[in-house]
Amino acid sequence: MERIFLSPPHMSGKEQEYIAEVFESNYIAPLGAFVNRFEERIKNYTGASYALALNTATAGLHLALRVLGVQEGDYVLASSFTFIGSVNAILYQKAIPIFVDSDESWNISPELLKVAIQKAPKKPKALIITHLYGQVCRLDEIIAICKEEGIYLIEDAAESLGATYHGQQSGTFGDMGVYSFNGNKILTTSGGGMLVSENEAWIAKAKFLSTQAKEPVLHYEHKEYGYNYRMSNVLAAIGVAQMEVLEQRVARRREIFELYQKNLCPVNEISFMPEIQDSQGNRWLSTLIFEKSDPLKIIALLEKEHIESRPLWKPMHMQPLFKESLAVEDGTSEKLFQQGICLPSGSSLSNEEVERICEIIRSTL
Ligand SMILES: Cc1ncc(COP(=O)(O)O)c(C=O)c1O
Repeated sequence: MERIFLSPPHMSGKEQEYIAEVFESNYIAPLGAFVNRFEERIKNYTGASYALALNTATAGLHLALRVLGVQEGDYVLASSFTFIGSVNAILYQKAIPIFVDSDESWNISPELLKVAIQKAPKKPKALIITHLYGQVCRLDEIIAICKEEGIYLIEDAAESLGATYHGQQSGTFGDMGVYSFNGNKILTTSGGGMLVSENEAWIAKAKFLSTQAKEPVLHYEHKEYGYNYRMSNVLAAIGVAQMEVLEQRVARRREIFELYQKNLCPVNEISFMPEIQDSQGNRWLSTLIFEKSDPLKIIALLEKEHIESRPLWKPMHMQPLFKESLAVEDGTSEKLFQQGICLPSGSSLSNEEVERICEIIRSTL
């Protein structure tokens, strides 16, 4: 039986045509017409005014911190319940993370965020929030707190491209936002990221830093250090083709989620990641928790059937890497981690496959 993956790439069919155009132009290089086109597509779709195509979302978060002036010894608040890629950039800047636990939305708790700000040894410079598994955080409250406290807001929308809150795209609420096009995301360029902002100067600065901070003169002149973080034209061609099907991908992931819900909700002990009011997640991954059953056993049983599933992200405050770090936590994400799993959610999954997965889960409970 063919293996069912968690979230495999799903091509639109146009990718090879666009890659062929790149080859014809011989712009097999970082930068070229498709990089600009990809940035335009993201701006048009999300409503962001400025966008910068990068080789990863991690690079985007690093540039965001650097552009916003986060330096050695600065404090940066962050969602604890996330993937390490959200927070590694804090360490790249030699800044100090303070992790904040989740609430019943599974995303960062605005109430605990306030506590974390009060407890911080000095005023934090920035907050990185993750819209986990494609569902948006309680943005109204978070934005209000950041405004009141004078803290920059960075949205890690790596998993949430296409998700909305009050009809506005995730990633466009904060000072800066990032999307990921890693191989398992709702759209993929095999690897890639996009930094967005309403601030033209910040994106210009990020662009400068992402191309080795070369001064705008003919020879190679450098006054500060930069990075090699831009996206290649070949990968941007894949991105342009992928953008053409984003709405379909969101719709299909939501359908898959609803099918899981329909088939598994009758089981009393199962509950799914919620969606906050007036929001629409992209349901990048369908995720659920079991009240009684051991998720590791279910993962192992699915594996026997060649079906990939995974535990939820292990919270950052539980990671050995951050054992000395400050955290404001109340056990919420720890419980989610211990009780939850991510189910196969790729947009190419068939209804029959979803039903088969549900059947296996039901039969094991
Ligand atoms: C929440 C989150 N943040 C950041 C990243 C990092 O993205 P990238 O792999 O594009 O660097 C990912 C996924 O890879 C992610 O899921």
